[in-house]
Amino acid sequence: MTETRILKPSDTAIREAAAALARGELVAFPTETVYGLGGDATDDRAVARIFEAKARPSFNPLISHLPDPESAFEHGVFDARARSVAKAFWPGPMTLVVPRRSDCRISLLASAGLDTVALRVPEHPLASALLAAAGLPIAAPSANRSGRVSPTTAEHVLDGLEGRVSIILDGGPCAVGLESTVLDLSGEVPAILRPGAVTPEMLEPLIGPVGFAGNGAKIAAPGMLESHYAPALPVRLDATAPEAGELFLGFGDIAGPEGSESLSACGDLTEAASCLFALLRRLDRPGATGIAVAPIPETGLGIAINDRLRRAAAPRA
Ligand code: TXA
Ligand code: MG
Repeated sequence: MTETRILKPSDTAIREAAAALARGELVAFPTETVYGLGGDATDDRAVARIFEAKARPSFNPLISHLPDPESAFEHGVFDARARSVAKAFWPGPMTLVVPRRSDCRISLLASAGLDTVALRVPEHPLASALLAAAGLPIAAPSANRSGRVSPTTAEHVLDGLEGRVSIILDGGPCAVGLESTVLDLSGEVPAILRPGAVTPEMLEPLIGPVGFAGNGAKIAAPGMLESHYAPALPVRLDATAPEAGELFLGFGDIAGPEGSESLSACGDLTEAASCLFALLRRLDRPGATGIAVAPIPETGLGIAINDRLRRAAAPRA
């Protein structure tokens, strides 16, 4: 076990965190999507520590984070499509899966043996500062134990990973609240492996038709493992009211009885995404029999919200 320190943002904190990363230690840091559990992506042992801390099945590859697009271009083969998406959506909640360059320094373990690499340039100022100070590609899955709800505050990270991470940089709550869109550009047809805040409607004007990777094809993304993002309590979807013993998570007009929570009383999908994981954690209380969730429209950001909710509700292994 390691002592876990929570540091408020400062130049000293960034320097300490960058030094810990350079020593092969793990540092959790905020991005605009969720908190990441970072380690030096070029160091096999640091990457192995990430899998171990998360108890993550090692066939799930990791995203490597860079401070700017130029640094990302050093590791992957960017064709015209990849360059235009990078230009439009980096920095931001967007991950690109592209072929590894032959001189790519990212650990093969982070690619889980695939000949592709997942790269992201996040927009959060604290993430950018840390990545620039580290001067290394930083592998960072969401900073939670594998299969559980992703963290959107430093306290969430501490809950799951205390003693398994050296430093948690506390940047307050994450603005987007859902993991980045994962777009696979390694094949002929662009495919979304995980829906997120960058939607097909935003991508298609740039790169033409975009498909969704079908469930059960191959395990290209842990999003494709059925149960994921799961609270301890069972989750029931498309509910208009709680049944006896259930806690209720409403949306828009469907508010539930006294004591219920709401993703967004005014039906705003951006607000709903930003508080989804925090509210699933808040409702995950012993004594209740389950969490019932109101229907969310399957449009825009609603596609990504429903993706996470379906996995939270999927039968557990
Ligand atoms: O918002 C985010 O993406 C957060 C923050 C911390 O950046 N990170 C995150 O990482 O959610 P993670 O490791 O939990 O999810 C990585 C996703 C998974 O669905 C993984 O399977 C996919 O990216 N992925 C990574 N490398 C891949 C590759 N080479 N081919 C296909 N999918 C890949
Ligand atoms: Mg995750």
